[in-house]
Amino acid sequence: MRQPLVAGNWKMNGSRASVFELLTGIREGVKTVPGVEVLVCPPYIYIPEVQGQLHGAPVSWGGQDLSLQESGAYTGEVSGPMLVDFGCSYVIVGHSERRSYHVESDEQVAAKFAAALQSGLTPILCVGETLEQREQNTTEEVVARQLNAVIELCGIAMLGMGVIAYEPVWAIGTGKTATPEQAQDVHGFIRGMLAQQDSAVAEKIRILYGGSMKPSNAAELIGKPDIDGGLIGGASLKAEDFIGICQAANN
Ligand code: 13P
Repeated sequence: MRQPLVAGNWKMNGSRASVFELLTGIREGVKTVPGVEVLVCPPYIYIPEVQGQLHGAPVSWGGQDLSLQESGAYTGEVSGPMLVDFGCSYVIVGHSERRSYHVESDEQVAAKFAAALQSGLTPILCVGETLEQREQNTTEEVVARQLNAVIELCGIAMLGMGVIAYEPVWAIGTGKTATPEQAQDVHGFIRGMLAQQDSAVAEKIRILYGGSMKPSNAAELIGKPDIDGGLIGGASLKAEDFIGICQAANN
């Protein structure tokens, strides 16, 4: 059995005051979801606060990205060892916002996946197609290409040490959620593709769904056989909504 993982990607949101309030609510609410692994990924600058406030709570924290390098003259970047230094256990790699706004290639994302593992972090690899790609019926091709870049660099066994998040770009922040069937189709495709190479990895790896997930649609999505939790953007900024999604995953 794969334990559900519900991860909040706060993106570039928050203030010291709002982070305090959000974490207070999460600390309280997490008591109601013992079966779910709960994770928050704040902007770097709030990570020390998060580490302080979550001390002793069954909630992990992680980065939204990491540098390819461990240290050195890389202005503005934050490395895997630095994240580990502040208690992070996960890091998101290849989010579509980084792939598009920062022009990160499949190869760079794969290298970040490797850098995360090298630092002792669990990478959450985001994959997903744009609306145009879906309309051209190339969803599977796109997702396979994104996954294969990691498999080629790291191997299937290393991929199995991470988490995959399927995030259709057209569903991110748009309020347009993939239907549970649409999501399950792609999740099933991903698991099937991995099974051709290593059935144990395919069985074990968690595949999260991300894209306008909220308390009202989470249960149906996470109820699908190959959807093992969520990577939540907007709804992770309100404790009530985030915990509501965790509760849906707890059933
Ligand atoms: P939304 O939940 O705001 O659509 O964002 C999803 C996402 O990009 C999480 O990484």
